[in-house]
Amino acid sequence: MKAQMEELQARALVRIRQAQDEAQLQDARVAFLGKKGELTAVLRGMKDLSAAERPVIGALANEVRAVLEAAIDEQRTVLKEAKLAARLASERIDITLPGRRPLTGHIHPLTKINRRIKDIFMKMGYTVAEGPEMESDFYNFQCLNFPPDHPARDMQDSFYITDSILLRTHTSPVQARTMQAHEPNTPLRIIAPGKVFRWDYDATHSPVFHQVEGLVLDKGITFGDLKGTIEHFCREIFGSDTQVRFRASYFPFTEPSAEVDILFRKRHTKGSTVRTTESWLEILGCGMVHPNVLQLNGYDPAEISGFAFGMGVERIAMLVYGIDDLRLFFENDLRFLAQF
Ligand code: FA5
Ligand code: MG
Repeated sequence: MKAQMEELQARALVRIRQAQDEAQLQDARVAFLGKKGELTAVLRGMKDLSAAERPVIGALANEVRAVLEAAIDEQRTVLKEAKLAARLASERIDITLPGRRPLTGHIHPLTKINRRIKDIFMKMGYTVAEGPEMESDFYNFQCLNFPPDHPARDMQDSFYITDSILLRTHTSPVQARTMQAHEPNTPLRIIAPGKVFRWDYDATHSPVFHQVEGLVLDKGITFGDLKGTIEHFCREIFGSDTQVRFRASYFPFTEPSAEVDILFRKRHTKGSTVRTTESWLEILGCGMVHPNVLQLNGYDPAEISGFAFGMGVERIAMLVYGIDDLRLFFENDLRFLAQF
């Protein structure tokens, strides 16, 4: 009987220590210590023992029970610790890895160019003026010497809200607004950046685009001042070797008038041959402020003269960054925008 108990204990201990989880441990417990378990069966058989043997085997059986219960507790602790260790290993964080940066945005290329344009003129003493994007026919055209039905209006076909209100086609109405907001003949040196709108759409024309207007009024301002200012601006923004062309043009609000083009080289690669072509891109219109415009807005052309210009911000950005289609600036494709 004693040998049988020792063999039972040995087998039970092996099974307990081999248990891989709580369920297997429970099975082992039931198999030996449960109601129908092996040790319970032995205890049941004690009634057949002699009175002398009974207390000895009884004590032995209790000892075996205690050993097995202790082994079960121990194995449970082992399993728990193993489970915790596995979890710690799987959830381990390597604090030495570099962090993941959140994606940060950056300034849009058109805003960058707009700021550079402003900086260049502010260094020359210009201040910034503003006007509304929804403008009256009066300021957009009439104050600028475009009478009703003037054919030059067709060059700026626009979006009308009513017969007399439209989305401004250029920033030039800010010239008229600024003159009217000052005492007659006050010297002015302003730029007016902003959105403008036209019924246009191709690689160099967008229906919504940006202009920066400029207006300088004082005694004795000449076309030489205009030319020097524009040339200085072009060298500042495009570099000192930039080729600038003044081309005679027409605007109802300036006389004489010119448009300014910049020479740019385009590289074409076909297989292994690289070819460059040169072309001119118009960036602005300008001229000496027309005497009618001075008069219409409260200035005396006998006393004050001046020049004005209106430049296309997208065109300048195209040249600075070497972009051949300005619509890319408005598509908001991150593959494009991330390059600036
Ligand atoms: C004007 O808008 C005149 N108001 C400029 C001016 C101001 C002349 C002051 C004299 C005195 P123009 O239509 O040429 O002119 O436009 C000026 C510039 O805006 C162009 O040279 C070009 O760079 C840009 N531009 C014109 N239309 C578009 C368009 N649809 N998309 C992008 N840029 C344009
Ligand atoms: Mg033009």
